[in-house]
Amino acid sequence: MNIPAYVKVVEVGPRDGLQNEPFRIPTNAKVELVDRLADAGLSVIETGSFVSPKWVPQMNDTAEVLAAIKQKPGTRYPVLAPNIEGFRRAVKAGAKEVAVFAAASETFSRKNLNCSIEESLQRFNEVCSAARSEGITVRGYISCVLGCPYEGKIDAEAVARVAGQLYDSGCYEVSLGDTIGVGTPLRARRLVETVARVVPMECLAAHFHDTYGQALANVLAVLECGVAVVDASVAGLGGCPYAPGASGNVATEDLLYCLHGMDVETGVDLESVAAAGRFICSELGRDPGSKVSKALSARLAQ
Ligand code: HMG
Ligand code: MG
Repeated sequence: MNIPAYVKVVEVGPRDGLQNEPFRIPTNAKVELVDRLADAGLSVIETGSFVSPKWVPQMNDTAEVLAAIKQKPGTRYPVLAPNIEGFRRAVKAGAKEVAVFAAASETFSRKNLNCSIEESLQRFNEVCSAARSEGITVRGYISCVLGCPYEGKIDAEAVARVAGQLYDSGCYEVSLGDTIGVGTPLRARRLVETVARVVPMECLAAHFHDTYGQALANVLAVLECGVAVVDASVAGLGGCPYAPGASGNVATEDLLYCLHGMDVETGVDLESVAAAGRFICSELGRDPGSKVSKALSARLAQ
């Protein structure tokens, strides 16, 4: 099996994992979560969003979270910015990296961003230009790459078109989001092969939600194609407010167990991530969704 020797794990739990939680999570709990994840060795931690508080109220304290975390040298703390207003707020709060998020489905784009795909790409182009002149790096997401809750199947060529435009605008990495977790390994692989014709493989990331239990299998399929960046959410937290019923990303603990078991390096300590997951889940009043976390807890209890 030909898989990368090192995989960069992008932790999205503090943003994707928490954005859909209905009850207000205290800011200090978010801060402690981010700090624990950084201490565990994660080099990229998506810390929040500068989006409309009317749409996603849970992320409304991102500026406070950014101000309170102990920023570690060498660790990056990107935040979502859907438009120039979000970008300006992010920069004011001290963000050094932002992420823009497009969709491969027209209906999802309208639900998530209140605009068409084309309009969103124009906004992101504006964000990328401003970011370039201010030395801020920009990551790009595409939602619904393997299926849309409103439109069903999505053509890989449609994903490639959006990916090419994000890359041409200046996104250093394009993360392919299976927002509702409907993908399966061979489809994930074909998608990556199609998108890699327009965006270099080393600039692609996998962002697979685990709604149908396929996320880890899909990750493995794209690692075999050469993808070496994988997004994951501690304790498997999460879901998208505009994708009803969707569950969290592949759990960081499950991803790390799988990668380390194959001697793939990540630079991340699994036990510390699992402890961070137990911490945030105790705040949320529930058990971690990660099977590996459950197994480690059972071992600890022996
Ligand atoms: P809109 O209502 O069309 O915006 O929202 P507007 O431009 O008409 O402005 C309306 C009001 O919002 C104005 O305020 C603006 O100032 C304000 P008012 O005059 O009414 O007081 N506004 C903002 N406030 C704060 N931050 C901003 C901002 N922009 C405008 N950035 C908008 C358009 C894009 C803002 C809205 O649709 C939005 O916030 N969408 C974000 C939704 C979101 O966060 N979704 C979840 C993240 S994406 C995801 O989870 C998928 C991903 O994980 C990948 C995957 O899994 O597929 C990334
Ligand atoms: Mg997501």
